[in-house]
Amino acid sequence: GLRSVVLGVGAYLPQKTLTNDELAKLVDTSDEWIVQRTGIKERHIAAEGETTSMLGEKAARAALANAGIAPQDIDLIIVATSTPDWTFPSTATQIQAALGMTQGAAFDLQAVCSGFVFAVATADKFLRSGSHKRALVIGAETFSRIIDWTDRTTCVLFGDGAGAMVLEARPSRGALDERGVLTTHLRSDGRHCNKLHVDGGPSATQTVGHLRMEGKEVFRFAVGQVTDVVKDAFAATGLTAEDLDWFVPHQANRRIIDMSAQKLGIAPEKVVATVHLHGNTSAASVPLALATAVADGRIKPGDLVMLEAVGGGFTWGSALIRW
Ligand code: ACO
Repeated sequence: GLRSVVLGVGAYLPQKTLTNDELAKLVDTSDEWIVQRTGIKERHIAAEGETTSMLGEKAARAALANAGIAPQDIDLIIVATSTPDWTFPSTATQIQAALGMTQGAAFDLQAVCSGFVFAVATADKFLRSGSHKRALVIGAETFSRIIDWTDRTTCVLFGDGAGAMVLEARPSRGALDERGVLTTHLRSDGRHCNKLHVDGGPSATQTVGHLRMEGKEVFRFAVGQVTDVVKDAFAATGLTAEDLDWFVPHQANRRIIDMSAQKLGIAPEKVVATVHLHGNTSAASVPLALATAVADGRIKPGDLVMLEAVGGGFTWGSALIRW
């Protein structure tokens, strides 16, 4: 059979940072409150005119360089985003054009903060089917554009950024110690739509809208529910928390990350966390964390890496990868 092997990862963050102290000048909050409840210290904010596709293109170029291949080697682009440049065409086709590509297929996928894990799972199925050879999977967001900057309960949580991964279909014996995506598990439950949503859109309101969230409900769901997809990955492979080298969860909140790891029996030193520096960058958070841990030498070839994410919908998922 075929397996989707990670050739490289990359990331891009807008230059401008926004610290908690700077936020405290905009709304009634404090560095102490934000750090204690979320672990977030600062986040990056896109410049005026800097769009999701621009961030995504830079992350894609970094991932291609890390993989040692050219845009012309790619035949599939999947972009996970909830903040596209335009209602249509897709951000993926914008990035395709920016990379100078005319070959292959490019499309967007929307699963909010779970978007990157959903996109990896989707690309993996394309590659293993044999229909496509090399995929560029991108998570890119400009949540600063949909934040209500007068709402202290949400505006302190989010940031902008992009991350990307290159996957290649390679022949596989199907062994657990062979490189590549070992298993993916996706879930959704649309009954929870109002707990985390944007109150605008082309069909419902003909406006862009702002992010609205019932924080406590989201927190409870994130800690209570998402561990099932990680357990599904263990059950599908026979591997355990002990076998993991790295746990790379969605970076929404340090408390959610720590409580999830604890619930799963994953040792704290195996947890990759970047939320203190990036805030919640939605679909970009997992690839940003991955790119950070690859660049600083933590994640190495042969490591067993568990990706996990949860987001609006709700949606949630896992991807277990032999790096
Ligand atoms: N600064 C200061 N005070 C604040 C702020 C702020 N930024 N935001 C809220 N408060 C106040 C509230 O008004 C409230 O005041 P009150 O007691 O006078 O009414 C008090 O702080 C406590 O508010 P709670 O909402 O009860 O605070 P909680 O402990 O639940 O923490 C938080 C809020 C951090 C949002 C938490 O619920 C959380 O992390 N939820 C998960 C949200 C999340 O991560 N979402 C990301 C998107 S979802 C995802 O990616 C999975």
